[in-house]
Amino acid sequence: MHIGILTGGGDCPGLNAVIRAVTLSLIHHTGARVTGIRKGFYGLIARQVCTLTADTVDAILHEGGTILGAHNSANPFRWTAQADVPAQDVSHEVLAYARELGLDALIVVGGDGTMAIANRIHQLGLPVVGVPKTIDNDLMHTERTFGFDSAVAIVAESLQRIATTARSHGRVMVVETMGRYAGWIALAGGLAGGAHAIVLPEFAYSPDALAQLCRQRERQQGYTVICVAEGAKAIDGDMVVKARLEHSPDPIRLGGVGELLREQLQSRVASEVRSTQLGHVQRGGAPTAFDAALSTQFGWWAAQLVLRKAFGQMVVLRNSSCTSVPLAEVAGKVRQVPADDQWVQTARSLGVRFGDETL
Ligand code: F6P
Repeated sequence: MHIGILTGGGDCPGLNAVIRAVTLSLIHHTGARVTGIRKGFYGLIARQVCTLTADTVDAILHEGGTILGAHNSANPFRWTAQADVPAQDVSHEVLAYARELGLDALIVVGGDGTMAIANRIHQLGLPVVGVPKTIDNDLMHTERTFGFDSAVAIVAESLQRIATTARSHGRVMVVETMGRYAGWIALAGGLAGGAHAIVLPEFAYSPDALAQLCRQRERQQGYTVICVAEGAKAIDGDMVVKARLEHSPDPIRLGGVGELLREQLQSRVASEVRSTQLGHVQRGGAPTAFDAALSTQFGWWAAQLVLRKAFGQMVVLRNSSCTSVPLAEVAGKVRQVPADDQWVQTARSLGVRFGDETL
C-alpha cells in the first residue's frame, strides 16, 4: 500500500504530530509506503514529494509548523502560477501525477477550505481521508480541532501579562486574537485569561457598550482588558468606522480590529487605550500536551480509516473519541459560536461583556 499525506492551508501546532502518527501507524500495521506531499496541494501541482519513514518522523512530535511546508493558496481547481496569469484547473494533472506515484489514497490535513478541495479530489477518483486542522476550532461536526488548545494557551498567558501592565498604568488594553470567521480562540482565551470583555465575530459590538464598561472599571478597578477576535464587527453607524470608510473600503484594514476598537474607545474614555495584535505567535511553536495527544489520536484514526477503506471521510472528535463524517458535510463550512454556548453563558454570568449588551 502506498499512501500520500499533505498539510493544507496555514500551519498549526500539532501538524507534525499528525504526520508522525499517520506514518508510524501505517508502517507498523501494513508496512505501507508513506509519501509526504510538499506545501499542501502545491506539491501535487509542482511534483514535489518526499519519502516519510520511521526515522524521518522520529523526533517531530513536538516540532511546531509542518515539516512538509505550507502554501496558503495552492488550489488545483483554481491554480495561478503567477499573480498576473488567469487561474487554471489543473486537477486532472494532479490526479495523473498521483497515479504516476502509485498512491492508493491521500490523507489531507487541513481546514474547511482544504476539505472542500479534498472532497472534489476524492470525487474525481483519488480516495481521500481528511484530518481537521485549525487553531480556530471552527470546523463542523468535531468537538475540537488540534492547534486550538495551543493557541488558547498563548492568548490566556498574553492576557495575564497584559493585565499586570494595564493595572500598573491604569490603561484600557485591547488584545486582538486570530479568528476571522469564528470567535472560539478569543472566547476560550478570554475566559481562561480573565478578560473583562470578549468581542466576537458572532455578536456585533457597540463601542458605546464597551466604553461604558471601561468607564465603570476606570472608577472601580482602574483598568480594563478586552479580548477581541480579528473578525469582530462593530454595529452599523459607528462614527470611527464611517470616518475610516472615507479613506479605505475596508475599515479594518488599517491595523486590524483591535486598533479600530482602540480608536473607538479612546474618544469615549478618560484612560489611555492601547492595542496589541497577537498575530502569528498564536500559530507558531510547539503544541501543548493536549494538542500533541489529540493530533496523535487524529493521525492514528486517519490511518485506521485508510485501512478500513472508509474514504471520502474526515476524522472528527465526539465525546473524546474519534469517528468520522463525510467530507461533503464539512467542506467550506464554518462552525460559529452559538449565542447559548456554555462558555458564553459562563462569561456573561461572571459579568464579562461581549459588547452586544443594550445600554
Ligand atoms: O488558521 C486560520 C487563521 O489562523 C485565521 O484565524 C487567520 O485569519 C489566518 O489563519 C491567517 O493566516 P495567514 O496569515 O497565513 O493568511
